[in-house]
Amino acid sequence: MSKKLSVSNLLGIKYLNENDINLIFETANNFSEVINRKIKKVPSLRDITIANLFFENSTRTKISFELAQKRLSADVVNFSSSFSSISKGETLADTVNNILSMKVDIVVMRHPSPGASVFLSKNIDTCIINAGDGCHEHPTQALLDSYTLVQNLGTLSGKKIVIVGDILHSRVALSNIFLFKKLGAEVKVCGPKSLIPKYVEKLGVTYESSLESALRWCDVASMLRIQNERMNQSFFPTTREYSRDFGLDSRKLKQIDKEIIITHPGPINRGVELSSDIIDSGKTVILDQVENGVAIRMAVMYLLASRL
Ligand code: CP
Repeated sequence: MSKKLSVSNLLGIKYLNENDINLIFETANNFSEVINRKIKKVPSLRDITIANLFFENSTRTKISFELAQKRLSADVVNFSSSFSSISKGETLADTVNNILSMKVDIVVMRHPSPGASVFLSKNIDTCIINAGDGCHEHPTQALLDSYTLVQNLGTLSGKKIVIVGDILHSRVALSNIFLFKKLGAEVKVCGPKSLIPKYVEKLGVTYESSLESALRWCDVASMLRIQNERMNQSFFPTTREYSRDFGLDSRKLKQIDKEIIITHPGPINRGVELSSDIIDSGKTVILDQVENGVAIRMAVMYLLASRL
């Protein structure tokens, strides 16, 4: 296995090869051990400066990146658009170039526009990590999701995964489809037809309209949030009807009478895609996903920094 990534930015899962993914997971194993020690810090990125540029809201990803950077001893600067000069008319490339002139080595960016990270990578000469770009990709989320599943299942090869809900607006869905397929899983999507991209089969997945059939088929149910903030029209009659048909609760789990792994990237719309009894039951791996996010992000930044 090569000990170097084939990429100098992390723009999306579609740019990673099998060696990259294995290397990130193997490196995350080492960092996972570090962050469970009493002293959770290593000097690996001591001379590296990282700017976290968040042009869209975040709780988990922002905190997870910042913790990962601090655990690696990097210097960190945080920026969010509501307090920035973007609101005064400055372009994205100008804003970022001004920040880079202060000698920043790595940019972590979340942006509401699909393709914003790719655009930036063509306009600036610095390592960029995509922390979510609109409804395009969220590569570190997919990496931490698969890492968590591999911890539970040993491998994703031959495993059956259904992604349920708002596939149309979800960057998590697209990154996960790419990664699950690269790791050899069989993938179905399930949800209201209005929230399924028209040509989803071209991604190598199949559509299942019945949640019950999907649950009977799968080893893993990856539940997604309804992304109300990206909808400018109604995609289903009411939230109650969505939840009845595509929300997961204990009654539906009991019906299938088998053990499955339940994931959710967060934030959860409690009572919509997952019922409170499931969230609070300890039967999901949601908090493991969040915990693993720090080790995965440490691994990604460490490996990219070694290419600088
Ligand atoms: N999963 C995820 O990206 O959550 P945040 O929007 O809180 O970062």
